[in-house]
Parts: sequence; structure tokens; C-alpha cells
Amino acid sequence: MQGKVLVAATSKGGAGKSTTIACLALYWHTTGRKVALVDSDPNQTLSRWHSKGGALSQLMLRTQLDEHAMIPTISELVDQHDLVLVDCAGFGNQAMVFAIGAADVVIIPTMTDEANVFEALRTRKVVDSASRLTRRDILARTLLTRVKRAGIVDHTREELVKFGAPPLRAVMNDRVLFQEATFYGSSPTVLSPGSSAAMDVEGVAQEIESLLWVRIESIVPAAAVEVSPAA
Ligand SMILES: Nc1ncnc2c1ncn2[C@@H]1O[C@H](COP(=O)(O)OP(=O)(O)O)[C@@H](O)[C@H]1O
Ligand SMILES: [Mg+2]
Repeated sequence: MQGKVLVAATSKGGAGKSTTIACLALYWHTTGRKVALVDSDPNQTLSRWHSKGGALSQLMLRTQLDEHAMIPTISELVDQHDLVLVDCAGFGNQAMVFAIGAADVVIIPTMTDEANVFEALRTRKVVDSASRLTRRDILARTLLTRVKRAGIVDHTREELVKFGAPPLRAVMNDRVLFQEATFYGSSPTVLSPGSSAAMDVEGVAQEIESLLWVRIESIVPAAAVEVSPAA
């Protein structure tokens, strides 16, 4: 088995990396995929949520704070899982660079303000450098998080597109269930499957899936490929 590696990274703290990883992991777990988690953040937010005995604790998690062990850890897990999801610290660091170098897709959570966009663009540049270093085309998308109002979303979206860090169409809206779930080591998908927050997660997960699967299918003849508009 050769799974896919998804890394949530941005040098901005509090942008929604750990939330995105926990929510996507449990979404894919509930759809029957074999998911593993790697926490590379010295603050160990994801590891703490994982230790609460909630739904997240059903998943394999490796806390990996040694940056030089990052690539071996990911390689080992990717052989045994459909998806390996890596959570990074909220500042530029070598573990993040190594994780990005091993990624199939990098998701850059971005709140709708200038400081978040600035750090997202810096992180996008790290992905570009890692692509050149590894001579692989590493896919990257920004993900708008804690979205409160449509107007500011449009502006943030325009900025991100203009500077070469296009966002997913799906967004994570600002919803209290995302915060509540952290106390239980769980996610909206598990706690309240029909909720708006769960729908947000599903939208994001399905858009990421379509990006990953289109890349796999691109090795078959073009006529057989259903191309996603987001790809
Ligand atoms: N979509 C959302 N709606 C409401 N609160 C959110 C949302 N995403 C994240 N949060 C909250 O914002 C805070 C920071 O999120 P977190 O995922 O820990 O960010 P990071 O890992 O990037 O530092 C947490 O308290 C989390 O519960
Ligand atoms: Mg975090």
C-alpha cells in the first residue's frame, strides 16, 4: 500500500492547522479510509486532543518532534495507511520543511486577514522550494478558515489568487462546534453529523480528494479522466 500524505502548514499560529487535520482525519476515518496522524508541533495540540479518549484516539498518532525523524516516520506510516496527515507548528521550522518535502498535498489554513495572507504566501514559497528540491510537483492549496462574512472572503480570495496561492472553493466557516469538539478529542463529523460544521468538513475533504484522485487518474488516457474544475 502506498498512501497519500497531506500536510497542514503555515507559519501563522492559530490559523486552523490542528483543527483541519483532526476534522479531515475523522471525516476520512468515518468513510472507511485507514488514516494515521503525525504531530510535529512542540505544543502538541493534536497529541493532547488524541489523548482525550474521544474519536481521535481510535487513530494511530505519532508525536514526532525530531525533525530528522520526520521523513522516516512518514515513509513508515504511508506504507500501512491510505492517508497520513501531518500537523505542523505555527512558525517556520525544519520539521515543516521536511514534511512538505514528503507531501502529496499541502493545505495552508488562512484566516481572512492581512497577517494570515502574508504568512500563507511565505508558506507557499516554502512549498515551491521543496518542489524544486525534490523535483516533484507538490500540490498546495490555501484553505480559508474561521470565515465570518462573505465580503471579506472575496477580498482574501482575490489576494491569494493574485499572489499565486489559490484557495480551495470550500471553506471552514467560524462555528462553535469546531471549538467544542476540541474538548472531546473529536470533530463535527462524529459529534453532530448533520451539522453545518460537518458539512464544511465534508466539502473540504471532497475537494481535496478530487485533487488527489485527478492526479492519480492523469496517468490514464485523457478521454477517460473527469477533470475537476478546481484542479
Ligand atoms: N472554523 C472554525 N470555527 C471556530 N473556531 C475555530 C475554527 N477553526 C479553528 N478554530 C479555533 O481556533 C483556535 C486555533 O485553531 P488551531 O486549529 O489550534 O490552529 P493552529 O493549529 O493553526 O494553531 C482553536 O481554539 C480552534 O478551536
Ligand atoms: Mg496547531
